[in-house]
Amino acid sequence: MQSLGHSFRALVIGSSGGIGAAFVRALQAMPHCQEVMTLSRHTHPSFTLEDEASMAHAAAVLQASGSFALIVDATGVLSFDAHKPEKNLNALNTEALMRSYHLNAVGPALLIKHFVPLLSMGQRVVYAKLSARVGSISDNHKGGWYGYRAAKAGLNMLLQTAAIECARKRPELVMAALQPGTVASALSQPFVASSDAITPDVSVAGLLQALDALPAQGRAHFVDYRGQSIAW
Ligand SMILES: NC(=O)c1ccc[n+]([C@@H]2O[C@H](COP(=O)([O-])OP(=O)(O)OC[C@H]3O[C@@H](n4cnc5c(N)ncnc54)[C@H](OP(=O)(O)O)[C@@H]3O)[C@@H](O)[C@H]2O)c1
Repeated sequence: MQSLGHSFRALVIGSSGGIGAAFVRALQAMPHCQEVMTLSRHTHPSFTLEDEASMAHAAAVLQASGSFALIVDATGVLSFDAHKPEKNLNALNTEALMRSYHLNAVGPALLIKHFVPLLSMGQRVVYAKLSARVGSISDNHKGGWYGYRAAKAGLNMLLQTAAIECARKRPELVMAALQPGTVASALSQPFVASSDAITPDVSVAGLLQALDALPAQGRAHFVDYRGQSIAW
């Protein structure tokens, strides 16, 4: 992340996940990353995506340590409880659709609300959120996975709307929805053999390179781990 200068601080939210942990490792290995803070359900302070008060508390605690040039939100859920991604309309039910939207879109939007204020002012800063290519409406060729797709599409809209608002006060803010590739992790494991997936470290190396190259443009980017832009 040369674009963030010679001494920057980073925060990884969802640091306990496959991709979140790879972000922590990659940033810790960068000589010009002064400090990497982590936040998950297992850190102190901790937070959950269902509880805005826990996010507000964590943000207040972390704010006391100083500001960040990079925040990555690597949280997200595909399967939960007994729920698996829906293959057809008959599999739809209200509770699962609402829960996927809550965890993949509402929770991350509230994280933006509470954590964008922790980014430094007056310099290039980056807020990156793990989204998914399946959240692209124009790139939906296969169907299926209704709840996850819809939640990621909703997430992308929330992120884009926040990017437009935040750029008024922070013209040097880069906001990005990230597609990490098909990555070997707990989330993908039930659906993809690890031999057909890239490692979290390969994905994150590409994502960091992609983020480094993105201009602040007053709107969000939707980009993959090879730096290629994805249609919304
Ligand atoms: N893996 C892929 O192939 C792939 C492809 C496209 C997009 N993505 C996206 O990439 C992101 C990371 O995925 P991953 O593969 O790293 O998955 P993962 O290993 O399952 O990690 C998911 C992360 O989300 C956190 N999380 C889940 N529910 C939470 C809750 N209620 N409150 C707080 N944190 C919660 C988990 O915390 P705990 O450790 O506490 O459970 C964990 O840190 C997700 O947004 C996913 O949609 C992944």
